[in-house]
Amino acid sequence: MERTFLAIKPDGIQRGLIGEIISRFEAKGFTLVGLKFMKVSRELAEQHYNIHREKSFFTGLVDFITSGPVIAMVWEGSGAIAAARKMIGATNPLTAEPGTIRGDLGIDIGRNIIHGSDAPETATQEISLWFKDEELISWQPSLISWIR
Ligand code: PPS
Repeated sequence: MERTFLAIKPDGIQRGLIGEIISRFEAKGFTLVGLKFMKVSRELAEQHYNIHREKSFFTGLVDFITSGPVIAMVWEGSGAIAAARKMIGATNPLTAEPGTIRGDLGIDIGRNIIHGSDAPETATQEISLWFKDEELISWQPSLISWIR
């Protein structure tokens, strides 16, 4: 079972897209194992985007991600990292495929709604950066066990 880190960015929250986005991952069949609604500190944002420190958009990206609350999440499932990236779509919402979150819901590269880990190593790093072990819950969705 694989885990990935996803964050609904401030624009997704402000535009009322929380339910829409979470629904897509639930409907796909992934399992939510961690979620928090939080204001991101500059320190956390700079650590999260550290690999992009030299890029021209780095400061703007850190300003943006710290500008309002975000929803940080960990989702679990077979192939969750690559599948979530596919569901999120290309970085630029204008060129992201229809059917993806960015392709359906966005137009601005600097306001691209959601972050998703891009590989197993980054997923592990990002999960431990954003969540303590005790904030993650391993559970098995089972319709039968609680009905009986
Ligand atoms: S790169 O250059 O290929 O490494 O960039 P990429 O992996 O596509 O994006 C890295 C993160 O930077 C965000 N990004 C931008 N933000 C603002 N303005 C511009 N022009 C821009 N280009 C890329 C992009 O959304 C990635 O952040 P996350 O949070 O992972 O989406």
